[in-house]
Amino acid sequence: MMNDIILPAPQKEGGMSLREALLKRCSTRSYSRRELPLQVLSNVLWAGWGFSHAGGKLRTAPSSHNRQEMTLYVLLPCGTFIYEAAENRLRAHIEKDLRMNSCVQEYAMKAPLQIVMVSETAKITGKTPQGVIESAYANAGYISENLYLAATAEGLVTVARAMVPKAELAAALGCTPTQIVTLVQTVGYIGEE
Ligand SMILES: Cc1cc2nc3c(=O)[nH]c(=O)nc-3n(C[C@H](O)[C@H](O)[C@H](O)COP(=O)(O)O)c2cc1C
Repeated sequence: MMNDIILPAPQKEGGMSLREALLKRCSTRSYSRRELPLQVLSNVLWAGWGFSHAGGKLRTAPSSHNRQEMTLYVLLPCGTFIYEAAENRLRAHIEKDLRMNSCVQEYAMKAPLQIVMVSETAKITGKTPQGVIESAYANAGYISENLYLAATAEGLVTVARAMVPKAELAAALGCTPTQIVTLVQTVGYIGEE
């Protein structure tokens, strides 16, 4: 049976300056298979969608009406997990490596980490159907940029991917009809080629 992974506390001080990370940020399409140490994984996930200040009310990324409807699915070689920011834990979800299920582009297949941003659209109320989709994708965009900057600051490489087999991936992840796959963020170390 697959166990939860307790992450080390994220490092919230020091590191690369914001300006340097902005200067270096880019999308990379060459990955090695080398896996991320848990500390680095914790730092990246926290930057993407952890809790910031305000006693657990606010996140490192904004969300429309502060609905915080996004869930990060963490696809690792050892299995598929859900990032639980408050507990700083990866909750075991599916005992299967689903990284390939998130890829159509070959370059992404070697990467050791795929972060799938899944929006629970049922939590986005008071909007038209188009407004719901707009909110979900805008919310994902903020998380994605945080992940870009955090990955850069950790010496990693990354790319946001919308070109993803979304329906198949949602099915593999066990998503309900109101949960939509928005973006996938590929993260890892730079490849050889
Ligand atoms: C919403 C969004 C979706 C993207 N989808 C893909 C994708 O499916 N595949 C890919 O290789 N790059 C994808 N990218 C990366 C863009 O191609 C990249 O950001 C752009 O070429 C600019 O390069 P830069 O990120 O290095 O500045 C996506 C970027 C964004 C913001």
